[in-house]
Amino acid sequence: MTLDLEAPASTGLTASAESRPVRPRRLRRTPALRALVRETRLHPSMLVAPLFVQPGIGRRDPIGSMPGQARLSADLAAKEAARLAELGVGGVILFGLPESKDPLGSEASTEGGIVQDAFRRIRALELPLVTIADTCLCEYTDHGHCGPIAADGSVDNDAALVRLAETAVAQARAGADIVAPSAMMDGQVAAIRAALDAEGFGQTAIMAYASKHASAFYGPFREAADSAPAFGDRRGYQMDPANGREAMREMALDVAEGADILLVKPALPGLDLIAAARDRFDLPIAAYQVSGEFAMIAAAAERGWLDGRRAMTEAVTGIVRAGAGIVITYAAADLATWLRDER
Ligand code: PBG
Repeated sequence: MTLDLEAPASTGLTASAESRPVRPRRLRRTPALRALVRETRLHPSMLVAPLFVQPGIGRRDPIGSMPGQARLSADLAAKEAARLAELGVGGVILFGLPESKDPLGSEASTEGGIVQDAFRRIRALELPLVTIADTCLCEYTDHGHCGPIAADGSVDNDAALVRLAETAVAQARAGADIVAPSAMMDGQVAAIRAALDAEGFGQTAIMAYASKHASAFYGPFREAADSAPAFGDRRGYQMDPANGREAMREMALDVAEGADILLVKPALPGLDLIAAARDRFDLPIAAYQVSGEFAMIAAAAERGWLDGRRAMTEAVTGIVRAGAGIVITYAAADLATWLRDER
């Protein structure tokens, strides 16, 4: 194969297409050459592992739809955080399964709430990893929606803002370094920033789930977190997956409201948005490889249909290549282990 390329005039070469074949394969000959020219490298410090925290002590319940993942009691969650820190994983993001649920999602913001308990235990270990709280109400409300229900049956945006702000403050007080509002309520970043600042948590950062689509890929998570809506769906607040310009608008709003990190979710169906976000904004860009993205690779690997390690590495590498500097992934521990073994 030859391409008709002219040599630069200054070299004085009379390069015909024949004498200067373009041979990209030169740089693919050996593992060392391929490593030298590799454009995208994964590092454990850019990975964040989700943890599902449940009541009890010494309790570990596997999640059927997410091979290798489990709901953990707070003591075991702290142990798992220590293992992740040992592997060099950058952070953990906590989700809670409360003792009891009610219409307001009260346990999300109580001092003794399940996630707050886990944060205090993790903080006590002084681990070199970042602690992140998913700030939402759907795991805590008895109806499974991300905010209180208004008289007309829709989620009451401004009532949700009050609850989200209280929840973020409780999480910060318990030791979360970052709060990550994921309810897709209008104004949630501004409301949380104001509440954190007013309560003396000016140093607590906000990672905004800025672009969050109403995705079928959250299916396994809702089993794991027992947070499926009891009626209706989330399309009245999460975005239509068909919309990209709207996603950019949501991200711009969160920047204006004071977000410190922008998150795109889900990752694989949103690679275009990760790339556009990286291009348009100067904040760190995070992507969430969600439960369904994990489950489909893990399930195919279990059946021997895919090489799980290679497929997972390729998927996460693609997310980083698109522009994400932070990846939330259920494969964080596996990836960190594989990266260590490569060295
Ligand atoms: C809370 C929340 C969800 C996820 C992250 N935060 C569930 C949802 O929006 O339905 C999904 C994460 C995953 O699927 O791994 N609102």
